[in-house]
Amino acid sequence: MTMLDSVDHEATPDPATASAIALDDRYVAHNYSPLPVVAERAEGAWITDVTGRRYLDCLAAYSAVNFGHRNPEVIAAAHAQLDRLTLVSRAFHSDRLGPFAQALAELCGKDMVLPMNSGAEAVESGIKVARKWGVDVKGIPADKSNIIVAQNNFHGRTTTIISFSDDDTARRGFGPYTPGFRAVPFGDHRALAAAIDENTAAVLLEPIQGEAGIIVPPADYLPRVRDICTHHNVLMIADEIQSGLARTGRTFACEHWNVVPDVYLLGKALGGGVVPLSAVVADRGILGVLHPGEHGSTFGGNPLATAIGTTVVGMLRRGEFQLRSTELGNHLHNRLNSLIGRGVTAVRGMGLWAGVDIDPDLGTGKQFGLALADRGVLVKDTHGSTLRFAPPLVVTADELDWAVDQFADTLDEARR
Ligand SMILES: Cc1ncc(COP(=O)(O)O)c(C=O)c1O
Repeated sequence: MTMLDSVDHEATPDPATASAIALDDRYVAHNYSPLPVVAERAEGAWITDVTGRRYLDCLAAYSAVNFGHRNPEVIAAAHAQLDRLTLVSRAFHSDRLGPFAQALAELCGKDMVLPMNSGAEAVESGIKVARKWGVDVKGIPADKSNIIVAQNNFHGRTTTIISFSDDDTARRGFGPYTPGFRAVPFGDHRALAAAIDENTAAVLLEPIQGEAGIIVPPADYLPRVRDICTHHNVLMIADEIQSGLARTGRTFACEHWNVVPDVYLLGKALGGGVVPLSAVVADRGILGVLHPGEHGSTFGGNPLATAIGTTVVGMLRRGEFQLRSTELGNHLHNRLNSLIGRGVTAVRGMGLWAGVDIDPDLGTGKQFGLALADRGVLVKDTHGSTLRFAPPLVVTADELDWAVDQFADTLDEARR
């Protein structure tokens, strides 16, 4: 029993909450373990539940809601497009895909975009592109290529992606696994270099590991990985699905180290918190390896998603969300760091993205998530006793202060 077991959570939810949760339990596959909060509406950084209670969202749908719930510019773009055209599939052109691809390619400083839907699809697509590039451009014999990944990675939950995960829960029972991946410790450029051979097509990394607990690598890591990849003619693929699009105070987390990867994988916030929209972005010499029929998705690049995506790229071009994340992130990190020794053992992250380790004797991350939800703050645990704070970037300093105050009080209660 941990200290937080003694904290009095709202044990019996109200009828509206209870019946919504019961319906989910009965009819939805149990592949998640959500907090007992039933959202009904949301605006900016706040979610309102079915009882009318308001919560400060400090998760932002794992960074998919970077620009705030129902961001007015995004919603206007969605409404306008809903009234014109939503889906044709890639069997035809639409007047929305080209402008989106151009805007996103320019934002990334690359030539081309491969549009997909979910983050996992972007990762799968990046792997396919890297393998094809390995064969067609690098001259790796067919079916012989390998891709270097980092231990404790999180890139999604499809069969191929879990094949190179070391999260036992994500893997167990889902084999046989896709071969062709080599995992090395994150942050260790020597191990990475040693794992590369003549058949290595790519290195696939999160610049900052999100689900692992917001792990920021050593300062020289990504620049060295960049050099190693260039030296060995290996593609550097940055999975910026969670770290990118202003979350860390830059458009891409890689910018903190002045690193430009060969391939960006983007998702989550690209769809403005409204639609799934992901992308692989790279130069023509890489994405040009794909030919008709070799890859696709019925919804990938649909007019509704790309109209929203174009608006999102325009918002990122203005830089205001990156600036907010930097300024408010400094504030959040200062406040959280002041809790070290008061139940917090470590704080990591960049911008409005913080992984907070709590003394395991005080409770699990899940217990703290429940206790904070009782106080009107929604956060999510990652592993063990780590909590992540990743509010929408429209949050204010006062709201952050209030959330950290709630967290500090919860820690104090647990320590009593
Ligand atoms: C770094 C990273 N890559 C890929 C994914 C998978 O994205 P999705 O859940 O949209 O498939 C995630 C999701 O959390 C992620 O954090």
